[in-house]
Amino acid sequence: MDKFVIRGGNPLRGTIRVSGAKNSALPCMAAAILTEEDVTLENIPQVRDIETERKLLASMGASVQLGSGGSAHRTTISCRSLSDPVAKYEIVKTMRASSLVLGPLVARAGIARVAMPGGCAIGGRPIDLHIKGLEQMGATIQQAHGYLEARASKLKGAHLVFDKITVTGTEDLLMAAVLAEGETVMENCAREPEVTDLAALLTAMGAKIDGAGTSTIRVQGVSSLHGARYRIHPDRIEAGTFLVAGAITAGDLTVADCNPQHLRAVIAKLEETGAQIDFPGPDAVRIRSNGKLRAADISTEEYPGFPTDMQAQYMALATQAEGVSVVKENIFENRFMHVQELVRMGANIKLDGRTAAVRGPAKLSAAAVMCSDLRASASLVLAALVADGESILDRVYHMDRGYERIEEKLRGVGAEIQRIGNLFAPRADEVVTDS
Ligand code: EPZ
Repeated sequence: MDKFVIRGGNPLRGTIRVSGAKNSALPCMAAAILTEEDVTLENIPQVRDIETERKLLASMGASVQLGSGGSAHRTTISCRSLSDPVAKYEIVKTMRASSLVLGPLVARAGIARVAMPGGCAIGGRPIDLHIKGLEQMGATIQQAHGYLEARASKLKGAHLVFDKITVTGTEDLLMAAVLAEGETVMENCAREPEVTDLAALLTAMGAKIDGAGTSTIRVQGVSSLHGARYRIHPDRIEAGTFLVAGAITAGDLTVADCNPQHLRAVIAKLEETGAQIDFPGPDAVRIRSNGKLRAADISTEEYPGFPTDMQAQYMALATQAEGVSVVKENIFENRFMHVQELVRMGANIKLDGRTAAVRGPAKLSAAAVMCSDLRASASLVLAALVADGESILDRVYHMDRGYERIEEKLRGVGAEIQRIGNLFAPRADEVVTDS
């Protein structure tokens, strides 16, 4: 199993580049199921979740070329024939976002068999709202032997109101609606940029969608969709993670190839802690810090609020800020797996249910720590960058699911970080994961 060895103390300086958004690429790859023609996606990040999605689509009979046309960040997917519309448990257990094939499979093939994702490190992660929406659109759903089977000869447009805001629920049902008969109105939708990204691809494929990025999305069903070529947006969570890296190491870091408009809540919070932020260009954010940071509270909310996917990273920063930062996690019930590991490095954090009180500045000392989920891993990397000494991070495969070549990118701006092990070695022990 791969490990990172990180020696803390270096301020990060220079320019670090952001890859395409994993959480856009996953629904966009699933959208290729909706057409018999080729869908080519650019700016795909080279991360393990994308490899998992490629295996999933290939297992259903799709042809997926990763790195087609010489670019490692381009993929062309052809779902001309889907011989086996089943998302098998062996794959789904390693990536719960596999449930994103549910809606497109029912819309395209009239049938979908998807292993129930089960819970993961950060929470129960049910998909009841995905199921409820499909039933309202006329699908019949059966659950047996850990699988969900959805059938519909032709989905019908419906008026859906989400009981809770769900990102992949919005995406799954949007993909079901584009080929349904008639109009679908979806209310209380997720407004995340990844939803907007997916809607832009579907529109390029011939779908008729209004309101993506707002709480209400209207879809006029069409009889078929054609192929398209589309460029995925930059990853706002990777960008936010790098901004925190610049602040926590008292560096001067320019985060390039990002979209500052998607980072407004994170940028505002970092400025509140005393970091200096500038915008050298339309797709770049520069962060400077003298290491003197002030405590600031966060409460995770759906977009455009402070993202839950940045909570663990922000908590690492809060350990270095003067005063008490109150961190409230409102989206997931168990997203504090990083806390005990940060405490082992010397952080002063008190937990009370979904609230953490982080008192700083605390001098962090290097330690051997264990990664538990994707964003907790990022939090431990950030803490190790400022800890005194050499930290060893185990199970970094969690990190590799959502961050492309992060050790090379961080080394490029002055971090002392090495990977021990082989990035793509097969893992028998990979546990159920969180995105
Ligand atoms: C997406 O997960 C992201 N994953 C997550 O990113 C992100 O943390 C999350 O949205 C919230 O922003 C992908 O896009 C692949 P939700 P998703 O449905 O869609 C409850 C990462 O780190 N809920 O918006 O699974 C759910 O339990 C990952 O990249 C239901 O109750 O999250 C949660 O409490 C982690 N029933 C809340 O809604 C449902 O049917 C929000 O979940 C669906 C969700």
